[in-house]
Amino acid sequence: MQRAAAETYRCPYSGEALRIEPAEESGEDVVRGVLVSASSRRYPVVDGVAHLIESEQESYSAEEVREKEYYEATARSYDAVIDWLFASFYEDEAAVRRKMIDLLEIGPSDRVLETGAGTCRDSVRIAERLGPGGELFVQDLSPAMLALGRDRMRAAGVLDGSHGRVEFSIGNAVHLPFPDRCLDAAYHFGGLNLFSDKRRALAEMARVVRVGGKVVIGDEGLAPWLRETEYGAILTNSNRLYSYTAPLEDVPHCARDAAVRWLIGGAFYLIDFRVGDGPPSADLDLPIQGRRGGTHRTRFYGTLEGVTPEAKRLAEEAADAAGLSMHEWLDRAVRVAARQTSERR
Ligand SMILES: C[S@@+](CC[C@H](N)C(=O)[O-])C[C@H]1O[C@@H](n2cnc3c(N)ncnc32)[C@H](O)[C@@H]1O
Repeated sequence: MQRAAAETYRCPYSGEALRIEPAEESGEDVVRGVLVSASSRRYPVVDGVAHLIESEQESYSAEEVREKEYYEATARSYDAVIDWLFASFYEDEAAVRRKMIDLLEIGPSDRVLETGAGTCRDSVRIAERLGPGGELFVQDLSPAMLALGRDRMRAAGVLDGSHGRVEFSIGNAVHLPFPDRCLDAAYHFGGLNLFSDKRRALAEMARVVRVGGKVVIGDEGLAPWLRETEYGAILTNSNRLYSYTAPLEDVPHCARDAAVRWLIGGAFYLIDFRVGDGPPSADLDLPIQGRRGGTHRTRFYGTLEGVTPEAKRLAEEAADAAGLSMHEWLDRAVRVAARQTSERR
């Protein structure tokens, strides 16, 4: 971990800034040490990897615990499984991953985060798009997976600085160790379905990306039109993760230009969106054209008890005769009647 990364990292639970206490350094790199928060939370740096996680702060589902143990135990065979997976769908992995990474719209000097990076099959490709001024934060929950990923990155020659700074950390994607809006893009592929809190993980990615930056996420999940087919049934029989659906309801409200697509034999969803400044807005008070009239807001908040069909017909005829929309006529009629009643009291 380079010393400068300590300035970017935050306590994943409190958001506090962290200060580095190095125990062993090599040039700009902290090989061993501790990142300490103002409230004395301590996160070890082990072999240059920041462990930004506290087990007491995490509550994993039973499924997640199984998953965590699975990746720790099977990291060495993971890559063979992925080779088989792409071959089984007749897909060119390089082309598929290139397309997914294209959606990040990365420039050479960007700061990018990948969560659940595993053995870094995408991270290498993301790093290759960065120049010396770029920065890539590579995160995973499993030290065993990330250790293999780091080896892959080293072997690919993307850790020599020519592709920017690459930082590795252990952590839970549900609590990201970054301040708001400090990155240009965030990416995750392959683990989302079993995250304990998908909505929070997506909100966290959107939180740490600047307004206008991109978030791209994907995992197993058959396209809706394939779910009830024999093809879908056979795939789901082998791997129940194919029965998951794209978590569109968990996309944060600040998302703009969101899109979902299905790739790799229609068995994986991929959602991408641009981070907007808060939820979208609309002029809820702009008068609506036509006979009914009113505005979105008056229609939502101004609804009164229903009237008889005859009263409704009389009101419509009166509004037409007065050349008013239903909203304008009713609003006036109610005000006049209400005023008369209160004057009589
Ligand atoms: C199927 S692998 C995908 C790895 C890689 N992204 C790829 O496309 O090959 C899922 C990865 O997500 C990681 N993971 C699972 N839950 C996580 C969490 N809550 N936070 C961060 N990583 C997590 C696992 O350790 C594992 O390495």
